[in-house]
Amino acid sequence: MSQFDHIIHHPPASFVEQANVAGMDAYHALCKHAEDDYAGFWATQANRLLSWKKPFSQTLNDSRAPFFSWFEDGTLNASYNCLDRHVEQGLGDKTAIIFEADGGEVSRATYAQLLSRTCQIANAMKHLGIQKGDRVIIYISMSIEGVAAMQACARIGATHSVVFGGFSAQSLRDRIEDTGAKMIITADHQVRGGKQLPLKSIVDEALTLGGCDSIEHVLVVKRSGAEVAMQAGRDLWMTEVADGQATTCEPEWVGAEHPLFLLYTSGSTGKPKGVQHSTGGYLMHAALTTEWTFDLKPHDVFWCTADIGWVTGHTYISYGPLALGGTQIVFEGVPTFPDAGRFWKMIQDHKVSIFYTAPTAIRSLIKAAEGTAAVHPDRYDLSSLRLLGSVGEPINPAAWEWYYQHVGGARCPIVDTFWQTETGGHMITPLPGATPMVPGSCTLPFPGIQAAIVDETGKDVPNGQAGILVVKKPWPSMIRTIWGDPERYQKSYYPEDFQGKYYLAGDGAIRDAQTGYFTITGRIDDVLNVSGHRMGTMEIESALVSCTELVAEAAVVGRPDDTTGEAICAFVVLKRARPTGEEAKQIAKILRDHVGKEIGPIAKPRDIRFGDNLPKTRSGKIMRRLLRSVAKGEAITQDISTLENPAILDQLADNH
Ligand code: WT7
Repeated sequence: MSQFDHIIHHPPASFVEQANVAGMDAYHALCKHAEDDYAGFWATQANRLLSWKKPFSQTLNDSRAPFFSWFEDGTLNASYNCLDRHVEQGLGDKTAIIFEADGGEVSRATYAQLLSRTCQIANAMKHLGIQKGDRVIIYISMSIEGVAAMQACARIGATHSVVFGGFSAQSLRDRIEDTGAKMIITADHQVRGGKQLPLKSIVDEALTLGGCDSIEHVLVVKRSGAEVAMQAGRDLWMTEVADGQATTCEPEWVGAEHPLFLLYTSGSTGKPKGVQHSTGGYLMHAALTTEWTFDLKPHDVFWCTADIGWVTGHTYISYGPLALGGTQIVFEGVPTFPDAGRFWKMIQDHKVSIFYTAPTAIRSLIKAAEGTAAVHPDRYDLSSLRLLGSVGEPINPAAWEWYYQHVGGARCPIVDTFWQTETGGHMITPLPGATPMVPGSCTLPFPGIQAAIVDETGKDVPNGQAGILVVKKPWPSMIRTIWGDPERYQKSYYPEDFQGKYYLAGDGAIRDAQTGYFTITGRIDDVLNVSGHRMGTMEIESALVSCTELVAEAAVVGRPDDTTGEAICAFVVLKRARPTGEEAKQIAKILRDHVGKEIGPIAKPRDIRFGDNLPKTRSGKIMRRLLRSVAKGEAITQDISTLENPAILDQLADNH
């Protein structure tokens, strides 16, 4: 018997009937097509979903493995595919974006309007010297202008790199330097949860930190209208440079491999890496997964709650739904303002039919609903919903069931989508009109994706046994390289352990003995997942030790947390005596603020524990395994015979 037998939910017949992929036979047929003719399968999708200026003749080029190319000699433009072609087909008056501001004001952009604005911004960028291949940083909050700015970059062949508005000046500076961007598109402020937070002044600060000489212009969108400093010659208001521009702009036809964007994400070592995505393969998978996983139809109102600063916002806001001509919500605010019923109210008001959010949000809204009846989803009319999605971290079965019952009214399939910044789009996920669902399992690979579980030597492990998640064949939307560091790309994703043959996801996983369903067990490297945000432990450690006047040494680990998935726990040795009581609290606050300044508030450690030392082997290696146990508050059962200083464990365990 399978461990899953008693908790399988079948897609409702009414959903299956109308689904883009209807029934498991249809799913298996697609998988079989990919198995029998891998290149043919992807070529079919790329030709069906995208409009090519020049058709491609070769689907996959693996002669430079692990640097793969897809649809290489084809040319296209991502913004043409997301905007113009819908307008040309008579959908100009269809709503592309329903924008709801933090304070509740609603505005809309039709496809024709979004295209015009994209062209104006594109023309403004060209006027300021931006050319094909240049990099442009976008540091802005959720807005129609933000999406249009991304589209405008794509239109002229500039490569965008969106930096999440929660990152600090230092993090922004690092990304400016690494990309060598010529331009930053930002706003005066961002508004979240009723608060006005700076953007432009953080850009100003980043530009004083050195290494940013590549920046020629800063385009500033007016959001708050409050006074901000503008440096003559460098800084320009978006309205002043874009509003007078022509509303048409010939798209720059680029090769399919042309880098559409760079997006920085954390790894287990060093600085965040600039994940480079292509135009053709990426856009194809964005469109395909929006069609098959989200079952998007012309009348749907789609809402992905992610920020455009993360890959989820790229693929399932700025590209996927637009490539298919869908209508979607773009939301500026936070789920708890003005109260924790905000998501439910917005679903009700806008008649959202497909809703995609993160487990951490669901868990915090469960807590809120249990505390205050008025914000319980049962109090809202959510009957417009027909499909729910989850992304970013494993969803625990209890949260899954609540989401299913109370948000989806036990009538909406839930797609638990496993993927990563590097994969560009969904990798393992149910297809909502086909796959029977098991809470807590992301079920089966998306058609064409050769996901597998192997041991350290790269050998397949049998179902029922935990191992390392890999992808055995390249796929169109995969990362192409790490910007400026191909060696790191190769080492991180195609390591020697598997003879450089398999893509290493960095997650552990297990397949159910009976169903073959995948369950992700979490990262196997030093990467944490805090509220669905990916953080490298080394990055946080570097930030802590960069507080040179105080910190001698630091080690960071994760511990499980009911709401945020994982919480950041830092063990710190100071350059002065180990503080206790009030003093410890004060220093912990200084260190938290320091990390906030170095990386951003999302990286601030939840726990900071001070020790005279850290648990180390005789050769001086910090034993993180033990620190993870201490952080969790569990008894140490591991072998500590190689430990130089066993007494330190008691000190760290007591000290919090
Ligand atoms: C890591 C990737 C993919 C967009 C958001 C995060 C974890 C992601 C799931 C899921 C279990 C998941 C993995 C992965 N993850 N989705 N459905 N079930 N774990 O992108 O920041 O690149 O993080 O998020 O650990 O490796 P990211």
